[in-house]
Amino acid sequence: MILVTGASGALGKLVAGRLAGRDDLVAGTRSPEPSPAGPPVRRVDFDDPASLAGGFAGVRTLLIISAGYAEDDVVIARHGAAIEAAATAGVKHVIYTSLAGSGDHLTIALPHRWTEAALAAAPFDTTVLRNGLYAEVPVGLTMMAGSGAVPGVLAAPWGRGQVSVVAREDLADVAARVVAEVQDDVAAGRRSRHAGRTYELDGVKTIGAEDVAAALADVRGVPVSYRPSPLGAVWTALAAKGVPPYQVAHAVSIFSNIGAGLLAGERTDLPGLLGVAPRPVRGLVADAVRASA
Ligand SMILES: NC(=O)c1ccc[n+]([C@@H]2O[C@H](COP(=O)([O-])OP(=O)(O)OC[C@H]3O[C@@H](n4cnc5c(N)ncnc54)[C@H](OP(=O)(O)O)[C@@H]3O)[C@@H](O)[C@H]2O)c1
Repeated sequence: MILVTGASGALGKLVAGRLAGRDDLVAGTRSPEPSPAGPPVRRVDFDDPASLAGGFAGVRTLLIISAGYAEDDVVIARHGAAIEAAATAGVKHVIYTSLAGSGDHLTIALPHRWTEAALAAAPFDTTVLRNGLYAEVPVGLTMMAGSGAVPGVLAAPWGRGQVSVVAREDLADVAARVVAEVQDDVAAGRRSRHAGRTYELDGVKTIGAEDVAAALADVRGVPVSYRPSPLGAVWTALAAKGVPPYQVAHAVSIFSNIGAGLLAGERTDLPGLLGVAPRPVRGLVADAVRASA
């Protein structure tokens, strides 16, 4: 049996949708809603480890969708509880959605790398899917933190940096494929070819702040040019918008890493695992600008 955690989240829903034809799929989420058309749903809340014994019962292949959006200690406790419960439940193979190696210097890298180490020490096979940044992440943060005070200018702290971005749909395709292949092997009593593998899943395209400015120009119907602004302004701009402190720090670290040229991932396993060309990201940039303009 396969269990996908976080099945109500954007990525989890896409993965579960791709596996929906299987009769060995169970969806796990914090607030299960009965869905006659979908797979069986179980309550799985990493903040409530008591929910995990029943949630993981009978599961042999487990996809742990990372449960971020919190301080490091909270994320570590969540993932630690999930790994411990998987071992207790006799899960054979855990697949975990982590962060691309290009993101090693981001604030969110710490709980991801802690989780990878905990998985490496666990008594089951593992596969780590090191997901790249969704296109809407740097674009959305730029629209929030960038200043539109001067008409026709997008001021943002990208320096001259570029960032690799990826479509969430591509990451869902890869996760569903790996999960399905692993479960077929587990059911046949074979060790999967994905066991012990860490896949880098950065996008194949990079974008720069000029691309965000161009998308903004399309939305506004007027020329917009990019002007680099200081990193320090992000703290106050985001805090003033009520963004939680850990997320402000994360945003600053994204801009800082872009400016330092560290997020233009050079090695990716994405095309090989997809088996087709990755989806274009231009439309995703435009969508993210439109959503926040
Ligand atoms: N690669 C990127 O650019 C990027 C960007 C943002 C986030 N992420 C990471 O990737 C994950 C999936 O992304 P997404 O786009 O699906 O984000 P999302 O739509 O915001 O979903 C958040 C996910 O976290 C799960 N979650 C939160 N608290 C949990 C808990 N206590 N126990 C179990 N699950 C919990 C949710 O599960 P339920 O609601 O179903 O319980 C949901 O699947 C995020 O959680 C985050 O760690 C990656």
